[in-house]
Amino acid sequence: MKTILTGIRVNSELTLGNFLGALLPMTRLANKYSDDHNVNIFVADLHTIIAEQDGALQDNLLMLIKMYLAAGLKVNENVHIYRQSYVPATSEMTWILNCVATMGELGRMIQYKEKGKGEDSCNVGIFDYPVLMATDILLFDTTYIPVGQDQFQHIELTRDIAMRVNHRFEKEIFTIPARTAEQAKFMGTDDGIRIRDLVNPEKKMSKSAKSANSKIMMTDEPEVAAKKIMSATTDSFGEIKYDLKERPGISNLLQIEALVTNKPLDKVVKEWEGKPNYGDLKKQVAKSVEKMLTEFHNKLNEIEDKEVFALMEKGEKYANKKANAKLYELQKAFQLR
Ligand code: ADP
Ligand code: TRP
Repeated sequence: MKTILTGIRVNSELTLGNFLGALLPMTRLANKYSDDHNVNIFVADLHTIIAEQDGALQDNLLMLIKMYLAAGLKVNENVHIYRQSYVPATSEMTWILNCVATMGELGRMIQYKEKGKGEDSCNVGIFDYPVLMATDILLFDTTYIPVGQDQFQHIELTRDIAMRVNHRFEKEIFTIPARTAEQAKFMGTDDGIRIRDLVNPEKKMSKSAKSANSKIMMTDEPEVAAKKIMSATTDSFGEIKYDLKERPGISNLLQIEALVTNKPLDKVVKEWEGKPNYGDLKKQVAKSVEKMLTEFHNKLNEIEDKEVFALMEKGEKYANKKANAKLYELQKAFQLR
């Protein structure tokens, strides 16, 4: 059985962009494939602490799992939910793979260049981040890794590390993950999902945006979220058209409507294209987002902490068994056992 695996850091609350771009697609893939694939969903808590936390890590972690469940994730015997740091083989294997990955490779990672900016004060975790991620993936013989495009470089590195180890020991110790082009195909996107900032639709919607009107947080009151949609920046062409380059604001609204209502984008576009009244579209999208958030919050409230703990503990039992076996294989190869 092939494995689909993804992790999310929990450094703050999620935006509608994170939800529609990462969490919801993963949930839909999991529900589609979990009959004959292993589906591993984990909280990347070790990756989270590359930045100092404000005391809410444990709350954010519970909330993340609740969000998957509220988004409709169906948990069967092939779906495994766990906390990365509760699988200690992760740290152990990261050390071993640190002795395989090179300074040159890690120095070329875009995320490191952006976050570390080559400064002496940059913590080693930021530099080593991709090796920890490679471990997450290789511990479980993963084939598919649904992530945003920004993470593709790390998947390529993971493939290189895995092939190097297999080659060195002339043994199939690791399963090689699919190439990134194949990953994109598996996710059903050519160009990935990119929800736009509501005030500045040229930019992506991001937690770090300064204006509250720019972003919808998944914890926003539904009426507040609806108001943000109503005040979203559009254009002055006077005719609805899907064109991300020339009309990113209105296209963003069409995209949000499609994802929130789970309709194909072309169907939504066909319904609205050519119409002159932007207000009608805004009202419709505001209504859809308000409805989605209301239902989502209701579901979130129904999920108790203990249900999440039970799922994680069960997932961690499975994950530790698998991970320890893979670690042992690697330790053997390195003459550590
Ligand atoms: P942020 O920019 O909000 O801090 P992160 O870098 O923490 O987001 O990304 C978490 C996940 O959400 C990643 O898989 C990323 O690809 C996805 N993501 C972030 N912003 C968006 C967006 N505006 N549209 C679609 N997906 C997004
Ligand atoms: N690096 C990912 C992010 O920043 C999170 C992550 C950590 C991850 N380990 C992973 C994603 C393994 C997929 C597979 O969003």
